Amino acid sequence: MKGLILSGGKGTRLRPLTYTRAKQLVPVANKPVLFYGIEALAAAGIRTIGIVVGDTQAEIRAAVDDGSAWGVDVTYIEQDAPRGLAHAVLISEQFIGEDSFVVYLGDNLLAKGIVPFVDQFVTEQPAAQILLARVPEPQMFGVAELEDGRVKKLVEKPSKPKSDLALVGVYMFSREVFGAIREISPSLRNELEITDAIQKLIDRGLAVTPHIVDGWWKDTGKLEDLLEANRLILETMESRIDGDVDSDSHIDGNVVIESGASIIRSTVRGPVIIGARAKVSDAYVGPFTSIMNDVKILRSEVEHSIILEGSEISGLQGRVNDSLVGRNVKIFRRPVTPSAYQFMLGDNSKVGIR
Ligand code: DAU
Repeated sequence: MKGLILSGGKGTRLRPLTYTRAKQLVPVANKPVLFYGIEALAAAGIRTIGIVVGDTQAEIRAAVDDGSAWGVDVTYIEQDAPRGLAHAVLISEQFIGEDSFVVYLGDNLLAKGIVPFVDQFVTEQPAAQILLARVPEPQMFGVAELEDGRVKKLVEKPSKPKSDLALVGVYMFSREVFGAIREISPSLRNELEITDAIQKLIDRGLAVTPHIVDGWWKDTGKLEDLLEANRLILETMESRIDGDVDSDSHIDGNVVIESGASIIRSTVRGPVIIGARAKVSDAYVGPFTSIMNDVKILRSEVEHSIILEGSEISGLQGRVNDSLVGRNVKIFRRPVTPSAYQFMLGDNSKVGIR
């Protein structure tokens, strides 16, 4: 079996972060989402992995390199534009060769990994195996209609979904899928949809086995889902304090503090992760917060948020909540009157003030 991680695409729903960074590299519990996918494939015994990359390939290549950090061998496959998941699979045909393969969407996260699904696929050898999860807003996903436990119909982002079963972004295929992709046409959003290619396999009477995942699954392409994934991963983390905590600080619950970080006259209530060389001073960091390397939280309160490298939050009166703050951002209280807001925000930034 080979693995194919799709990491091209545009990431429009996480702008402005994704103007400067690949959405698959946004960290969850201080680790890029993409790394969880590589780990999931490696845990399933897959050693040869292709990563489909687009505009953001330089950053992805720099982060993953040749895959040796995970004991896998990574090949990069360039997609000229985000022409759809099925297009990304089709251009990987040569890399896949005669093997069966797992397609893993680079922005997806599954709590329990994929080992049992891969094992079942290898044993049963259907043309395709799909994973499904019950979701409250199925119209945002590919949706499956089942009949007697078999897949009857798959529709990509239907306006009137026939079920609440969303297609999870992990698929297992035999080579049969390449023929099916050649038969489909671009969708209304002008993409070759993998959902349509799998429907072609069904129409041809080939075996497409569905599997409903237990445990959580998140597509981290949207802020709420990213924060939720961060919460779920932090909950599973074990405490480790390698940084410095002064005697005036209080640490409660599961907290990871990386080396070189300092906590001064502050309260940190886990689950929380605080990255290397971060400084938390006269501050409160509350549950479900990921603070990346070199961040400063000074005289402020932060909870249920992700703060990326090098940013500084200082002197705020209200608590920062449910937020995703990019790299090298400064949020501070101006000491001078008049008390006016002053912003310098990138395109598509979002600021909520009360
Ligand atoms: O997350 C699950 C959903 O993923 C499924 O329920 C849908 O059926 C499936 O179409 C897909 O929907 P999205 O609209 O969320 O896909 P997105 O455009 O976010 O792309 C998913 C990943 O694939 C992301 O890491 C970017 C990458 N990608 C995407 C496209 C369109 C590529 O590498 N190349 C592409 O051409």
